[in-house]
Amino acid sequence: MAEKETRLTIRDKSVFQSESYVPGSHQINKFIGREHELRLITAAWISGNYSQPMSPLLIGEPGVGKNRLIYELAQKTGRQLYILQGHEDITSEDLACTVRFSDSGNSAMDYILSPLVTAMNKGGICFIDEIGKIRPRALALLVSVLDERRYIDSTLLGERIHAHPGFRFIAATNTADVNLLPEFITSRMRPRITIGFPPKEEIDDIIRDQCSGIKKEVDMLIDLFWLLWTENGGSVGAIAPRDAIYLFGWASRLCAFESTGGMKALKESGSGNPFDLSNSNHFTGIRPEHLRQSFKKMFSERNQSIA
Ligand SMILES: Nc1ncnc2c1ncn2[C@@H]1O[C@H](COP(=O)(O)OP(=O)(O)OP(=O)(O)O)[C@@H](O)[C@H]1O
Ligand SMILES: [Mg+2]
Repeated sequence: MAEKETRLTIRDKSVFQSESYVPGSHQINKFIGREHELRLITAAWISGNYSQPMSPLLIGEPGVGKNRLIYELAQKTGRQLYILQGHEDITSEDLACTVRFSDSGNSAMDYILSPLVTAMNKGGICFIDEIGKIRPRALALLVSVLDERRYIDSTLLGERIHAHPGFRFIAATNTADVNLLPEFITSRMRPRITIGFPPKEEIDDIIRDQCSGIKKEVDMLIDLFWLLWTENGGSVGAIAPRDAIYLFGWASRLCAFESTGGMKALKESGSGNPFDLSNSNHFTGIRPEHLRQSFKKMFSERNQSIA
């Protein structure tokens, strides 16, 4: 990002803003379904002269699509997205501003505005991912952001930063961590939106989109997919998109390994004639046995992690 877009001067201090995340800047599959959730979040963010936007909290199992929903909404609402990844070591000042040694000769330190403060300043969306992993002490600074004050005090900068009217806030947590959130945050984060597993039809469409190169065989593979899923103890419509994408992605790579020459080609490869790791025809040629191997791998990984 160009320096002039990120750099500010606040009372002679050189201040850098965080970089936004541009959804879709990396290869990304088509977004499927989730109309109910899109509606709830968008409605919560509507505000006017007499009402402030709400700050929804998304709760769901890993891989159900919490991040993806927010990427979609950032695009649809035409706002820049600033993501702050929650973890145990975040301090309250990390939520506002940090410092680093400067690269430029005329200042000793640079101040770096957090993704939260950058979004407040620019009128973007701040998304705190895994908010349940941040210690309650550190979250105290969020209180004034989430109520009618809409400002944050940075001790390091010695400044109070008020939110631009366009600023919107949202956070997500895995179901297992939701009870770790303190009351002073949960009471300000409304509505609470549970992101469940998508219905079977949406998982089917995610797979169809992923396997657009094999339109003819895909329905047969989808039937086999649900058969293997239920045989392994899953119930129909209770799989996270990430797991479905992983299962088909792994099957397609096993297939690509064979079509690139398989074990024979790998044995004959060396630095002079390296094995080709690029594959532009992925998801074509997947056969039932690839999907079976993929399930076997995923469930043996699961059993290992449970053991
Ligand atoms: N509605 C959807 N349409 C298409 N792809 C989706 C959809 N929802 C999720 N995905 C895909 O599933 C994968 C997992 O989604 P995502 O990372 O958003 O899940 P998450 O709930 O944030 O997971 P975690 O709790 O582990 O952070 C991503 O590859 C994402 O693009
Ligand atoms: Mg996530």
